[in-house]
Amino acid sequence: MNSQMQSTVEALIASGKGILAADESFPTIEKRFKALGIQSTEEARRAYREMLFTTPRLSEYISGTILFDETMHQRSTDGIPMAEVLAKRGIIPGIKVDKGTVALAAFAGEKITEGLDTLRDRLIEYRELGARFTKWRAVITIGDHIPTRTCIDVNAAALAQFAALSQEAELVPIVEPEVLMNGSHTMERCEEVASTTLRSVFVALFKQRVVLEHMLLKTGMILPGEEHPAQAEVELVAETTLRCLRRAVPAAVPGIVFLSGGQSDEVATQRLNAICRAAVPWKLSFSFGRALQAPALTIWKGFSNNVAAAQEALRHRAQCNSFALQGKYSAEMETRHT
Ligand code: 13P
Repeated sequence: MNSQMQSTVEALIASGKGILAADESFPTIEKRFKALGIQSTEEARRAYREMLFTTPRLSEYISGTILFDETMHQRSTDGIPMAEVLAKRGIIPGIKVDKGTVALAAFAGEKITEGLDTLRDRLIEYRELGARFTKWRAVITIGDHIPTRTCIDVNAAALAQFAALSQEAELVPIVEPEVLMNGSHTMERCEEVASTTLRSVFVALFKQRVVLEHMLLKTGMILPGEEHPAQAEVELVAETTLRCLRRAVPAAVPGIVFLSGGQSDEVATQRLNAICRAAVPWKLSFSFGRALQAPALTIWKGFSNNVAAAQEALRHRAQCNSFALQGKYSAEMETRHT
């Protein structure tokens, strides 16, 4: 067993700690900034990420942060590389290594994730820049007659190649097959698609000789589509998500981290809290992007005067989610800051 990957995995899923996803690509961060009237310049993105990473007490609740390529090459106001800013605070730097999605040829409405071509060389560079783990996101869309088996299997094969290459470079892969919440599908349909996807991913990981003990799975909760009229009860989400994961994810996988996927921050925390009360073979945690950052970004708005308040909002969300990992979150925590 490789001891560096082993210790990275253990640190990432340390009790009460989760992962901050701050790896928004150029189009995604632009969309989030634009909604608040912030211009997405290189300096604005740098200042925003520096604000997040230098949040006081963040490492009490956050074990690792996923960076975007641009951020990995940027420095703090004091001239310190961003990965070092995090590492100095006891937060493990990681990196999104996929190059986003494109249309899957001949399969209307479906996507394939790109980035394998140059990956081996880029992984060496990222390691030198301080990354200790990587992430690759595959996107599965639910709609009329989709996803197809082809879309699921080609994305699973790409995830498995990514994971094998990451482990070759001694970087812990976070394997993320995201089943999108977009649409009006039922919760049953989400469970069916997520379960087929996860099974395909684990077959591909096995074929590619990926060491399950040295990876993490990042997945969504089982939810009805966001346009479905009946939204699910917290307990039902927990029960269904756990059933799906127990059936499809081998116990050798050390940890499963949830993405937030567009759920509101408080709802994501409530559901995480309910899921984490169960006895399961893996460590469960969060790897939220929007559900951790949204309140902080809304307060920050691009102004340095707002940094302290924005950081407090991020620290508070991270703390609420940390409590949720222990099944100890309650609605009162939203008003009682400690
Ligand atoms: P969200 O929590 O906003 O879905 O982002 C997590 C992520 O990393 C998606 O790839």
